[in-house]
Amino acid sequence: MSTDPAVTLRAYHQRAKHHFERYAEGPGSLDWDAQPDPFRTWKGTRRYSLPRESPERSILWSALPDARPAQPFDTASLSAFLRLTVAITAWKEYGGNSWALRAHPSSGNLHPTETWVIAYWVEGLADGLYHYQCRDHSVELRAETLTASEHANFWLGFTSIPWREAWKYGERAFRYCQLDMGHVLAAVAYAAALFGWRARLVDLSAEAAAHCLGTDRHEDYAGVEAEEAEVIVALQADANEEVPAPPLEWDEWSGLPSLLDPKPRYRWPVIAEAALASRGFLPSSWGANSDLAGVVCPPSRILGGAVRGAGGEGVGEEKPPPAQPGFPPATQVILQRRSAQAFDGLSILPAAAFSRILESLLPGGSSPVWRMWNATPRVHPVLLVHRVEGLAAGLYILPRSEAGLTGLGESLRQDLAWTAADAELPLYRLAAARAERTARSLSCHQDIAAMSAFTLMFIAEFAAPIAANPAAYRHLHWEAGMLGHCATLEAEAAGWRGTGIGCFFDDAVHELLGLADTRWQVVYHFAIGMPVDDPRLLTRAAYE
Ligand SMILES: Cc1cc2nc3c(=O)[nH]c(=O)nc-3n(C[C@H](O)[C@H](O)[C@H](O)COP(=O)(O)O)c2cc1C
Repeated sequence: MSTDPAVTLRAYHQRAKHHFERYAEGPGSLDWDAQPDPFRTWKGTRRYSLPRESPERSILWSALPDARPAQPFDTASLSAFLRLTVAITAWKEYGGNSWALRAHPSSGNLHPTETWVIAYWVEGLADGLYHYQCRDHSVELRAETLTASEHANFWLGFTSIPWREAWKYGERAFRYCQLDMGHVLAAVAYAAALFGWRARLVDLSAEAAAHCLGTDRHEDYAGVEAEEAEVIVALQADANEEVPAPPLEWDEWSGLPSLLDPKPRYRWPVIAEAALASRGFLPSSWGANSDLAGVVCPPSRILGGAVRGAGGEGVGEEKPPPAQPGFPPATQVILQRRSAQAFDGLSILPAAAFSRILESLLPGGSSPVWRMWNATPRVHPVLLVHRVEGLAAGLYILPRSEAGLTGLGESLRQDLAWTAADAELPLYRLAAARAERTARSLSCHQDIAAMSAFTLMFIAEFAAPIAANPAAYRHLHWEAGMLGHCATLEAEAAGWRGTGIGCFFDDAVHELLGLADTRWQVVYHFAIGMPVDDPRLLTRAAYE
């Protein structure tokens, strides 16, 4: 481990890469019966059951960005909010095994993210810090304050338990924890919009967040898996107010965390090193948003050439695009979200759905995520388009900022076409080609990348942000996870589906794009397509 955190993080990223000829270091074999417990409990805490009614809100998905009156902060809204963000949404059963799915996806369904609730002035709850126990939808009182609060306030805190991921994925696991964190944050932003709340990230140092959430109480964690504090989000009824600071000191702590894996067979010390090196602050340009002008490309910026709908070549002829359905209620979209395990490789994604998905990725677009995460965009999607109505198959790019457009224009290989491909969106075609086999190969030979309508590769501005603030290593992964979450919910709303792809051959992607150094690195892949369901799986309700 270097004394320079940026060096440590670049080295971690390098050794956590998968290559065609070898995967990143991971366990040689897995004992599935010894999987770490996906549910941590806090023994010796007071537990409060939350209401079990299904969240009912009739707001249509298409109306989600509209302003609406703020719901009161009470146990009913807390319960519904958790149901739509981090709770279990269904149990699946097959061959005598059952497993829980949650409102957000997680690499390997291992769910390293733990959720904490800080509630002030909420009827039925003492003011304090609670661990959310998603197995039975309850909260466990971890710390109390004896000082009377003046306002009703909700904050959500998040921590990661890297061992849950490392157990299966070895050294690459820290990246997956951070991608998962991005999905969770996006889920919070969408649910907040439904409740008329504004989700704001609290600008605390990593040490302050750890202190508030108690993860720096090392004696409490003695002999059990560590938790890494990630971020605290304030939920606000009035967006014009200052972001309220959560209490940093508590008067009384209670409880001890349960052990998740009594017999760990491997150790991956680089994960703790990467966690330590990436502690820091939220992005320094927080809220400034100076880089966003002109991101949603006006027609005048189109440089000429083929515009989508103007007779693209190479569109698959297998299945005509289905008629666009009306939009379902937003709660339904959120609760029914699943990752596709397979795509049909035939269906053509309608142009309107494609545009909505891409638009949701742009800062200043319709997604509430970018009102919460309003820092300079650092992550830019490159698309391998296979089956999209009116769009030639090939390699595309959607720069999310002017700086991204310029920087990637300079850094990507110089023989790419950069043909404007949409009248409204900053979408450029880099090369026309059928790219299913390339997509599959780059994504660890996974069929979902080839059978999708299109597969995204998220390219992050890498070395410079991390040199400026080592915590950017986490933030780049969060941003990619948030992008994946926007894409998956928009796809779900349109009757399609997404799947995160954490397994990809990093340097093979860089080679394809001509990226020769660490100025840019690929951090996540994501596929969108028409799912093929597995009829053998049985589904049970989450809590009802
Ligand atoms: C960061 C991340 C990486 C993932 N990587 C893969 C992958 O490489 N291949 C795959 O088939 N699914 C992948 N998934 C999907 C998960 O397997 C899926 O989210 C998990 O099984 C839970 O299922 P659900 O999303 O339907 O709730 C990934 C998900 C996330 C969030």
